Amino acid sequence: MIKLITQEEMPHMRTVGRMMANLLNACCEQVRPGVTTGEIDAFARAYIATLGDGTAKSGCLGYNGFPGALCISVNEEVIHGIPGARVLQRGDIVSLDVCGSYHGYYGDNTRTVIVGGAEAVTADVRRLLRVTRQSLETAVQAIRPGVHLSDISHLVEKTVADGGCTVVREYTGHGVGRHLHEDPPVPNYGKPGRGPILHEGMTLAIEPMVNLGKASVRVLSDGWTVVSRDGLPTAHFEYTVAVLKDGAEILTPWYEADPWSADWMKS
Ligand code: MF3
Ligand code: CO
Repeated sequence: MIKLITQEEMPHMRTVGRMMANLLNACCEQVRPGVTTGEIDAFARAYIATLGDGTAKSGCLGYNGFPGALCISVNEEVIHGIPGARVLQRGDIVSLDVCGSYHGYYGDNTRTVIVGGAEAVTADVRRLLRVTRQSLETAVQAIRPGVHLSDISHLVEKTVADGGCTVVREYTGHGVGRHLHEDPPVPNYGKPGRGPILHEGMTLAIEPMVNLGKASVRVLSDGWTVVSRDGLPTAHFEYTVAVLKDGAEILTPWYEADPWSADWMKS
């Protein structure tokens, strides 16, 4: 069942969305050569404690036993990377997936950043990031009441294919509101004109996971980390959005602070 967020509840979604976007950007600022993913996790825990009245919670920590306050996935790691002893190096690409709750509502957002800046990676990796980000932005632009959910999914898939990359099919976006994961699943592929029709008050996590090589993925023996089977790099961008009368509102506005993408969004 798809649960709607009322106009009275929407300010709560905006509040937690902005908190999660600020948390995500603050974590991105910690990314540099020599830092461990565990240090970023410790930073996130301390930052969460400072949010609002101090009752904000990580949505990752303890989720089905997940041990981190956020997911940190490096290079061929698609999602659900566990923070730990790994030392980030120049040229790594790092997906930070940050979700959490405040006063009973959830926000969820992700971005992929380059350790050492855009010149530290190949043109193919810059294209991967650009195409993934564009697929998210294109999808969000198309969201409004009356369109089929699969129209959005199809747009993501088409943008990714046009950019010469592939969509991960085993994991999807999702409804998000009073719970982290709600109906409907939001696949990043599909034929247009199918599935639920979007209505005002739906709140969705749109999150293309995109591979530079083949689409196929597997889960590592830690039971969490999802990697591309061919070992090629992979990227992930995510917003929580609300369907409003005349379009989507991005509830997690991480793009407002963006020193990380300017150098690869253009070319
Ligand atoms: N943000 C992730 C998602 O959208 C949730 C991660 S839960 C964790 O599904 F347990 F994997 F951390
Ligand atoms: Co999500």
